[in-house]
Amino acid sequence: MNILVTGGAGFIGSHTLIELYHAGHTAVVIDNLSNSNPVALRRAAELIGVPEIPFHQIDIRDRQALEQLFAHHTFDACIHFAGLKAVGESVAKPWEYYENNIGGTLTLLDVMRHHHCKNIIFSSSATVYGDPAEIPITENCPKGTCTNPYGWTKSMLEQVLMDIQKADPEWNVVLLRYFNPVGAHPSGRIGENPNGIPNNLMPYITQVAVGKRPELGVFGDDYDTPDGTGVRDYIHVCDLAAAHVAALQCFTAHSSQITAHSSQITNHKSLIYNIGTGHGYSVLDMVNAFTRVNGVSVPYRIQPRRAGDIATCYCDPAKAKAELGWEAKYGIDEMVRDSWNWQRQNPEGYPEP
Ligand code: NAD
Ligand code: WQD
Repeated sequence: MNILVTGGAGFIGSHTLIELYHAGHTAVVIDNLSNSNPVALRRAAELIGVPEIPFHQIDIRDRQALEQLFAHHTFDACIHFAGLKAVGESVAKPWEYYENNIGGTLTLLDVMRHHHCKNIIFSSSATVYGDPAEIPITENCPKGTCTNPYGWTKSMLEQVLMDIQKADPEWNVVLLRYFNPVGAHPSGRIGENPNGIPNNLMPYITQVAVGKRPELGVFGDDYDTPDGTGVRDYIHVCDLAAAHVAALQCFTAHSSQITAHSSQITNHKSLIYNIGTGHGYSVLDMVNAFTRVNGVSVPYRIQPRRAGDIATCYCDPAKAKAELGWEAKYGIDEMVRDSWNWQRQNPEGYPEP
């Protein structure tokens, strides 16, 4: 298939490109580079073994640019990563998040339907479950109250996509709810490249390990978890990337079989999958695994809880295995090894393009 990859220069997008090409697909990337660097695309092309990955610096809110793109390419499907994703920033700048993520996606969907491209995989998030009603979280778990505008953009866009599919059954919508992506390509050539102070645990750990920050703050040790620190379902980004390739089969002949199995979903052609490992690890589990595997210590200090955090979040990934034949291959050791390999080789992230 020829796939439009929005946000393809970013962390998850760049890893997904490698999996797509290795599976025999081709891709065209659009990205406004607001949170990414084109060097990631050059390096992804090197890892794939192609001279370049077709790239257009386009903002998904730019209807005219999207129209021109679709006039020159035929796409079988879109994998839609583009969006702003910093939880704290979204609290400070809600309008910017709703406008970019929701406004941009509405424009993208409109241009897609004008050009009869009605297959989409959307990057959703475990955040839509809020404080989850059940652990492990299955796709039947009701959606919850999000604690920030970023989370609401994901929750609302899921609804938008399902409603559009219901009104026009030519659409095929796959919602992948990612748990906590970490790790990097094992080569260490591409990885997560946060701007400024990292919000997420793993890039914070690697920046402490490489000496950029003095110590990790552990946000709370009084949760109702085995060691009191927050428990999450970390997933290696290469496993997450592979899940997108597996999800493409929803757009082929198999899809009727898959939808037939999804009886619990009212709207049969909007398919929802949890993408995680099904294992929960605490903050201290991650710190200890990092030190054990990499031989590098990570000084830390217990701090107060972070507003909006929940104690425990991990999924039951059985549905993705049963219907897509996808399951995570990598464990915690590979996650911390590859995160460190990327950071060690690229202490300042990507170079200027
Ligand atoms: P990322 O920031 O590395 O990638 C997103 C890309 O989208 C960036 O390259 C950015 O420049 C681009 N972008 C943003 N707004 C755009 C616009 N208006 N037009 C064109 N390009 C735009 O983030 P990521 O970690 O790779 O996440 C990819 C997707 O997965 C996002 O939608 C994110 O919300 C979602 N997600 C991420 C996580 C996570 O923890 N990383 C978890 C769940 C869901
Ligand atoms: C993990 C654990 C923290 C940083 C976020 C978004 C979610 C999704 C994934 C996009 C928690 C603890 C963290 C630190 C710490 N993103 N922590 N010190 O909060 O599970 O999910 O990223 O969709 O929407 O909310 O991930 O990596 O921020 O935190 O102790 O410096 O690490 O309290 O227990 P989270 P995280």
